[in-house]
Amino acid sequence: MSVKFPDVKDLFEAKSVAVIGASASPGKIGYKLIENIKEDGYKGKLYPVNPKGGEVCGYTIYPTIADIPGEVDIAVVTVPAKNTYDTVVECAQKGVKFLPIITSGFAETGNVAEERRILGLAREAGMRILGPNIFGYFSATASLNATFGPRGIRHGKLAIVTQSGALGIAMVGKSTVEHLGLSAIVSIGNKCDLDEADLLEYFQDQDETKVILLYVEGVQKGERFIEVLKKTTMKKPVVVIKSGRSTRGAMAAASHTGSLAGSDTVFDAIMTQCGVLRAETLKESFNWCRFLAEAPEPQGENAVIITNGGGVGVMATDASEKYGVNLYDDQAKLKEYFAPVTPDFGSTKNPVDITGQAGGKEYSQAIAAALTSPDIHAVMALYCETALFTVDTLSKMICETYTQYKLGQKPIVYSIIGGEAIEACTTSLRPNQAPVWEDVYEAVSCIGALYRWHRYRNQKVQPSADIQMNWKRIEEVIQSARADGRTFLLPHESSVVMAEAGISMPKSGIARSSAEAVAMAKDIGLPVVMKIVSKDIIHKSDAGGVLVNIETEEAVAKAYDTIMANAFKYKADAKIDGIEVNEMIKAKTEVIVGARRDGSFGPTVMFGLGGIYVEVLKDVVFRAWPINKEEARKMVLEIRAHKLMTGARGEKPRDIETIVDTILRLGSLIKNVPAITDMELNPVVVYEEGKGAKALDVRILITEK
Ligand code: ACO
Repeated sequence: MSVKFPDVKDLFEAKSVAVIGASASPGKIGYKLIENIKEDGYKGKLYPVNPKGGEVCGYTIYPTIADIPGEVDIAVVTVPAKNTYDTVVECAQKGVKFLPIITSGFAETGNVAEERRILGLAREAGMRILGPNIFGYFSATASLNATFGPRGIRHGKLAIVTQSGALGIAMVGKSTVEHLGLSAIVSIGNKCDLDEADLLEYFQDQDETKVILLYVEGVQKGERFIEVLKKTTMKKPVVVIKSGRSTRGAMAAASHTGSLAGSDTVFDAIMTQCGVLRAETLKESFNWCRFLAEAPEPQGENAVIITNGGGVGVMATDASEKYGVNLYDDQAKLKEYFAPVTPDFGSTKNPVDITGQAGGKEYSQAIAAALTSPDIHAVMALYCETALFTVDTLSKMICETYTQYKLGQKPIVYSIIGGEAIEACTTSLRPNQAPVWEDVYEAVSCIGALYRWHRYRNQKVQPSADIQMNWKRIEEVIQSARADGRTFLLPHESSVVMAEAGISMPKSGIARSSAEAVAMAKDIGLPVVMKIVSKDIIHKSDAGGVLVNIETEEAVAKAYDTIMANAFKYKADAKIDGIEVNEMIKAKTEVIVGARRDGSFGPTVMFGLGGIYVEVLKDVVFRAWPINKEEARKMVLEIRAHKLMTGARGEKPRDIETIVDTILRLGSLIKNVPAITDMELNPVVVYEEGKGAKALDVRILITEK
């Protein structure tokens, strides 16, 4: 009979909680938990458990979980690691649904076996584990503060999922100080069972949660994480902070793709691809979360800046460019809307400068004009302290206009700059959730985050493009390379794979005598390039194994002998398969297209500026597979040197569609052929639009078996 697991909802709507290892000693975690659960007003039943019995915080302590009269949904475990397994056995017998295990001393300290043993037991019994090695969790729905962190958590709209315990506890405190209400905070610790994806699945449909903040250190089941993230960000904003530039799972950097795909670069690219907002700092993440929890989604792209100072207006303009906020530019309309509230010496251009003489009335009028104008969709209101405004007037103006904007479904942010009184005003507005910051960039960055999320969820999603190929033939090539003891393909083998994948390469063949080389060169067409083919010579140029621009038949015959001699000089016992004769390609725009199996996220694709300086320039972008044509096109236009593709200095545009197709073909290959770990086409020479591209060098790495 298959085991039935409880719904994650039951964790957050728990009707009964036991604390195993509850202690009457106030300094212990087992005491703090009881105290927090009680004091923060848990609505359900609370059962402390400890063989010593007695009483804690007015509750009777049960000697064992079996002694508890009613059902137990959640058993929070705070007994030492050595006692945890036996405790979990008792919980299974009681029919507990969830086990938040606070206890440390498992996989994080190398005690992986014990963690697995406990997980195995929980799986058999249909229980789910949170942790181990966590500080607990908080659910506003159940008013359950099952943490040993601070008490008095403010209820609200932000759900936090954190891998770091200490930082998570700090976030609880910080959220309270910042008046940022939480719908939940969950510590996932070693995440041996429940992970970010499980919790995102729940929070994406939970009404109380409007925005989700993730603190991530490393991702294990990356493909599922991506899948759930994509669905979640379609429903609500997800902000992520990631620390740790771990190289977990990274393949040996045997190719450019491998060394360029630092795990953090890939993580960053994938978060953008999934519509996740990655914050640099804790402060930025809290700013965004506070704003996104309350802000209505904009109905269009036109934002305006309203200011009483030119300088901050310019700063906000710069910040808008940095954070991707589109400033409304219809000068006639701007004049029509704002001229009635702007003095002659002000400006109705965007930034709208209502000048230093503007008082509360003028501000309110200008902001009201933006609210009622149908083609203005977001407002950034800036204020530099003047003597014309009292703090009370400012505070009142902000509260009133903010309320109107929320009702009118338009996002607004305020940046107010000045002395002590202004700072006091900002602080006093915080409990009302008013989106007020002192720093202009902080305010604009919030609007930018909202727009990035809005654009993501409103994009048209096309189906992803998995291209079919003769997988059997490709597998055969791989098998023969393995039979030869190799974990990479030789050029002629890579050529077969490319031919099956429908990716163009220069015409070529392998000659085993100078006469054969001459015949091949005639067939391909002069001039040609000749390269040594040997598994013992990886760096062909260093070995004198590559000659280019060979223009005559005599030169071909001579080149054959020269390359052979060089190769033997380089490595006397090298096993040589012959010399590759290649069509000579005139250098045009050179790009790199790659694909690799990332240790955390599975198949990924890469595109960038190619050639020999690829690692110096690092002008590359990544995506997790699958992607669609549109996304592949975005990749091509995302590199810094994208103008080389669209037509720089009067040149004709390059054949972007062929590159898009190449990216999709490599993605399909890496997805469907598990034996391939890395593929790199560099350089790929791209011709003018409609004229295709050719992969000059192809490197394919495979697993041992
Ligand atoms: N059933 C019920 N109670 C038990 C059992 C059992 N099988 N075994 C022991 N107990 C009781 C003990 O008698 C004790 O109660 P007492 O105070 O009445 O004597 C209580 O459980 C706790 O056991 P202790 O041996 O006193 O252990 P202690 O409280 O010192 O530590 C803890 C237990 C907190 C689980 C510890 O082992 C641990 O793992 N600490 C780290 C927790 C942590 O940091 N987690 C990560 C958080 S995130 C971050 O980094 C901040």
